[in-house]
Amino acid sequence: MAKVIIFGLRDLAELAHYYLNVDSEHEVVAFSVNYDYLPKERLFKSLPIIPFEEVVDKYPTTDYKFLAPMASLKMNTLREQVYYAIKEKGYDMISYISSKANVYENVSIGENCFIQAGTTLQPFTKVGNNVVMWSNNSLGHHGEIKDHVTLAAQVAIAGRCSIGENSFLGTNSTIRNGTVLAKGTLVGIGSVITNNTEEWSVYMGNPARRIGKNISKSILHI
Ligand SMILES: CC(C)(COP(=O)(O)OP(=O)(O)OC[C@H]1O[C@@H](n2cnc3c(N)ncnc32)[C@H](O)[C@@H]1OP(=O)(O)O)[C@@H](O)C(=O)NCCC(=O)NCCS
Repeated sequence: MAKVIIFGLRDLAELAHYYLNVDSEHEVVAFSVNYDYLPKERLFKSLPIIPFEEVVDKYPTTDYKFLAPMASLKMNTLREQVYYAIKEKGYDMISYISSKANVYENVSIGENCFIQAGTTLQPFTKVGNNVVMWSNNSLGHHGEIKDHVTLAAQVAIAGRCSIGENSFLGTNSTIRNGTVLAKGTLVGIGSVITNNTEEWSVYMGNPARRIGKNISKSILHI
């Protein structure tokens, strides 16, 4: 059981607070945001909101852990920055894995992951740090998801695939077995990837075609 500070005050922070309360052994004790985002009333869900710049003074790294379930904006680079800022302060981070997810005992999962109900992580799979998976995803055997990745919902990744850092896989996308997705790959909703991809590129359709090179970070709503 850990005493947990949640980074953020938006939808994902509210969801994290809810899931940790109803479906984990952890206790949420506070929320934290940077000075610029502090609301007037420093309470959320009846818990204190602490400026991130001061958090260590009141919540020592030996006694508290963080969860920062941020959205995927700018291909997860925002969540990546927050993750490293928290690590720099010296905190360990928990991962939330829904009790309704199917995770085999030889699967390895890093820290600050947020894994929702219905997701299956098959045997011999590996999930890095700072990965968000919404509901009903499937990661096929011997597959790997690297750091700072988001899977929307119902993404089907067949066996022995590798999903590069900062990638975003849209709802209902499908990845052929043995495929390597390069860093920063954006896969559009419902798209089917049949070949390896190029860094920071956008793919859509079935079979998916690259529609832009080096542009995924400029799609601001992802
Ligand atoms: C790929 C994506 C990022 C492109 O977004 P965008 O840059 O705003 O592009 P637009 O929506 O303007 O679409 C441009 C064109 O591509 C087409 N298109 C968009 N996504 C497509 C997809 N996944 N497959 C095939 N065609 C697609 C659009 O129909 C449009 O075609 P048109 O010009 O003939 O009308 C977006 O469509 C997408 O798939 N986002 C992921 C959504 C998701 O999974 N959300 C989960 C909740 S977090």
